[in-house]
Amino acid sequence: MKNKKIVIAGGTGFIGQSLARYFGKENQVTILSRQLNNQQTNSYHSAAIKNESDDSIRYVKWDAVNLETNWTDTLEGADLLINLTGQSVNCRYTEKNKKRVLDSRIYSTRALGEAIGKCKNPPLVWINSSSATIYQHSLSKPNDEETGTISKWKKDNMPYSFLDKIRFMLKKIYRQLKYGADNPKTKDLEFDFSIKVCESWEKEFFASKTPSTRKIALRMAIALGEGGVLVPLSRLAKWGLGGIQGNGKQRFSWVHIDDLMGIIEWLTEKQEIEGVLNVSAPNAVTNTELMQQIRKYNNRSFGLPAPAFLLEIGAALIGTETELILKSRWVIPKRLTDNGFNFRYPTLDDALNEIFNKENRI
Ligand SMILES: NC(=O)c1ccc[n+]([C@@H]2O[C@H](COP(=O)([O-])OP(=O)(O)OC[C@H]3O[C@@H](n4cnc5c(N)ncnc54)[C@H](OP(=O)(O)O)[C@@H]3O)[C@@H](O)[C@H]2O)c1
Repeated sequence: MKNKKIVIAGGTGFIGQSLARYFGKENQVTILSRQLNNQQTNSYHSAAIKNESDDSIRYVKWDAVNLETNWTDTLEGADLLINLTGQSVNCRYTEKNKKRVLDSRIYSTRALGEAIGKCKNPPLVWINSSSATIYQHSLSKPNDEETGTISKWKKDNMPYSFLDKIRFMLKKIYRQLKYGADNPKTKDLEFDFSIKVCESWEKEFFASKTPSTRKIALRMAIALGEGGVLVPLSRLAKWGLGGIQGNGKQRFSWVHIDDLMGIIEWLTEKQEIEGVLNVSAPNAVTNTELMQQIRKYNNRSFGLPAPAFLLEIGAALIGTETELILKSRWVIPKRLTDNGFNFRYPTLDDALNEIFNKENRI
């Protein structure tokens, strides 16, 4: 792809920076970010715009909520808009954090939809991130776009451990006593938070009226590349803690970040594809296989296993959730393979070999 105008909202993160490097060499890339200090300066004066070497990447400030001409103007005549905005889900699911995770995705998607609605020449394609975690916790079958199971109920997805179950029950008793059994705050406990986020996010995305813009929601599996989840997993392996997590049977769906870049480029050409799309390599592995590979690439023959109850304690201590490790995310990229997309890294071994050995990056 060459000489295209590409806007990446939330492009300062793990995936966005890879995309900027990938597309920045031969295209005009604009990143929408909340991090710049002076809106006017950063939008309109090149001296204040961060450039990465000779790549044509510029940064424009937005607040990911409100329409302001400095950033809405960047959508005018764009070939491709990619929205990666969202507070990281790697946090404890307190009410405050849950609100941030949800709002950051909904408001940014809404703002982009409204901005496109005001464009004279709207973007040709809008790709919005979603997540493979939208599918039910599944140990028995993989989920494709047509037949995949989505259940909003917590009982179909959780608990992932005994301690998790106790935590849930205590919360329920507390809310029943404080608010009453029929109060929405008590009822909300029955719903799975991650599914709610993904469903609301996709709903917001498809609800906006953008008739001249083709829209695709990427139900992305975990992206593997320099950084990201491989860093903590490699640390665990190096410390001798790279054994199975939980019972090791849960599936890990993943995609090499270069394939993710390739898929986004390929989608811009594939006029007939819109709607939801699973973005994962065709070969999901079990956690047992994942950890075996992680040990192999970190030159460790043995790793202590981490049973679910230990993970619960560890997750509480470091401020995250065991769901990120224990939920069985099993997706297959049916629409991609049916439409002829060729993965450069179809197996986990292929992917990790490239990431760990190419430049000794991890
Ligand atoms: N990485 C994966 O494997 C994976 C898998 C499935 C789905 N996803 C989804 O894909 C998207 C991109 O992933 P990523 O790993 O690149 O994420 P990331 O590194 O966390 O980057 C997300 C970007 O969103 C912006 N952001 C963060 N908190 C925000 C808030 N409260 N309000 C508004 N903007 C906020 C930040 O940009 P500024 O600070 O510059 O504004 C940040 O650079 C995310 O929505 C993620 O949920 C990722």
